[in-house]
Amino acid sequence: EIQSHLTLLETTYAKDDFTNVTDKIASHLGRNLHTKEHHPLSHVRQRIVNYFYKNFVNGRGNPTFSVYDALPPVVTVDQNFDSLLTPKDHPSRLKSDCYYLNRDYLLRAHMTAHQSELMRAGLNNFLMIGDVYRRDEIDRTHYPVFHQVDAVRLKTRDELFPKEQSLEIFEVGNNTQSTGTQQKQACHTLEAVKLMEHELKTTLAGLAKELFGETIEYRWIDTYFPFTQPSWELEVFHENNWLELLGCGIMRQPILTNSGIVDRIGWAFGIGLERVAMCLYKIPDIRLFWSKDTGFLNQFKVKYDEDVTYRQISQYPQCINDLSFWLPQDREFSSNDFYDLARNIGGDTIEQVVLVDEFTHPKLGKTSHCYRIIYRHMEKTLVQADVNVIHSEIAKVAASTLGVQIR
Ligand code: PHE
Repeated sequence: EIQSHLTLLETTYAKDDFTNVTDKIASHLGRNLHTKEHHPLSHVRQRIVNYFYKNFVNGRGNPTFSVYDALPPVVTVDQNFDSLLTPKDHPSRLKSDCYYLNRDYLLRAHMTAHQSELMRAGLNNFLMIGDVYRRDEIDRTHYPVFHQVDAVRLKTRDELFPKEQSLEIFEVGNNTQSTGTQQKQACHTLEAVKLMEHELKTTLAGLAKELFGETIEYRWIDTYFPFTQPSWELEVFHENNWLELLGCGIMRQPILTNSGIVDRIGWAFGIGLERVAMCLYKIPDIRLFWSKDTGFLNQFKVKYDEDVTYRQISQYPQCINDLSFWLPQDREFSSNDFYDLARNIGGDTIEQVVLVDEFTHPKLGKTSHCYRIIYRHMEKTLVQADVNVIHSEIAKVAASTLGVQIR
């Protein structure tokens, strides 16, 4: 049956000849991996945000940048393209490259889509963080949904040149229509552009060092974006390859004027989180970020800035069995006793044991623990029947040696 409408995040959209969002893609909306506690993408987000909090503080010691990480991913064609001066015939608009809900709405292809609305709301320094959607090839490093941190920083003449009353940020005539050169837009003074470029590049080289270490090698590549001029890419040298880390540049002045800002010059950048996390944690496949497998997720249950090296989890499926028992009342019991016992009996068939529930009966005064035992063999598929044998042996030995009472 062909439906004439589709509903995403509780809003209904009429389909048309542009509609190409699939159910599979739609199922990623709302996962919010970038804000999920202990998710590797969330750790990287936190490291980037903290870098900005630490390096840009106002006179009272408060962070200068505000953070927006819950902006809804359905945007208009105006937000994603027109407001950013993307030409009508630019290939990034193609149906073959984006997920359209219909001719007017799409899943944002970059976080830059929110620049104009936040500037219009009066913000001068802000970070936009979220999931973005692009149709692309399928391989180890590409996935149609990924995550970006985008930033905007706007400065007035007085903020840029506090001690130089003679310097201006705009050329006389302030012609925002003329295109200028790769070096600068016609409307900007060379002094303003150079100072902005310097702050932008220092900030981003500092970010690369914060993420990859002080000794990271990096280089700047001239590039083109419809919304910045001049524009650069920052590449870092990682494991014998130059890796494109982010895009950035001096914001095109008409984007500011169209948002009602006439007295500021701005820089902006956008960085993808997956690529950074894959390098930092040695995660070999981008699909792993979407895994709900605790064998993956539990490896990142650390503080956001701790070093983690991902260990390959088995490609064989998990078998999950729970075991609940009353703790003995006549002797001590510690969870570690049970972990050792389970490991002794199950050996390498056990990937993890987690205490999932604990409660004390109000009348009987007895305490119950429920442990989830996650079985998975590294070399073969375990069938439930094999697991049942091990699981009941663990229960039996726990009862006889730890004095617990299986429920
Ligand atoms: N939006 C660009 C991208 O997705 C990154 C970018 C953001 C470049 C802001 C310049 C300024 O690749």
